[in-house]
Amino acid sequence: MRAFLFLALVLCTNFCYRGCCKAGEEQTLARFPPRGWNSYDSFSWIIDEEAFLQNAEILAQKLLPYGYEYVVVDFLWYRKNVDGAYVDSYGYDSIDKWGRPIPDPDRWPSSRDGKGFAEVAKKVHGMGLKFGIHLMRGISTKAVDANAPILDVHTGGVYNEDARNWTARDIGLTHRTCGWMQHGFMSVNTDLKAGKAFLRSLYHLYTEWGVDFGA
Ligand SMILES: *[C@@H]1O[C@H](CO)[C@@H](O)[C@H](O)[C@H]1NC(C)=O
Repeated sequence: MRAFLFLALVLCTNFCYRGCCKAGEEQTLARFPPRGWNSYDSFSWIIDEEAFLQNAEILAQKLLPYGYEYVVVDFLWYRKNVDGAYVDSYGYDSIDKWGRPIPDPDRWPSSRDGKGFAEVAKKVHGMGLKFGIHLMRGISTKAVDANAPILDVHTGGVYNEDARNWTARDIGLTHRTCGWMQHGFMSVNTDLKAGKAFLRSLYHLYTEWGVDFGA
């Protein structure tokens, strides 16, 4: 028992050094990982907006009082749920004109007209919860095939460097596809400033939507 207490103290101290710390917050940061519900649980990837919000309501009512505050949409939220679509299928994903994945409008109707997850995030926040989404590393194959222009978030226009506009084909590493979703995503060349600009454009979008957590 004494050894256990000692260990707990060491762990806590360690976390406080690493995370610190507004008074009163360090206990929560040290003792718990983010807690909540992830939509893979019971739904795999095919969940839609209505079912997601119903589950969020239940979490808010039953589990939020115990500290379970995150609701997270798991992977493939950009993919159509139709025959032929599966984890490594190609051709069913939605992207915006800058090559960024956007929610499938059939499963996430409030995302239409360029709203993305903003409406869902607003409703989740209204329940007193925090909102998360699953993120794939890199850029989607669809964006590379479409050779989508890269957004420069500082100008709102195409990312321009050395007197040229940069596009998805400049930054997608076609020989470095995702091992378990080879037709879906590939790594981005972050040695290029254009590659960094693309990642920045993703984070910018998630912030606009009101995303609190990326998984
Ligand atoms: C880059 O894109 C902008 C906006 O689409 C366009 O006006 C400009 O002519 C392009 N520049 C080059 C060098 O292609």
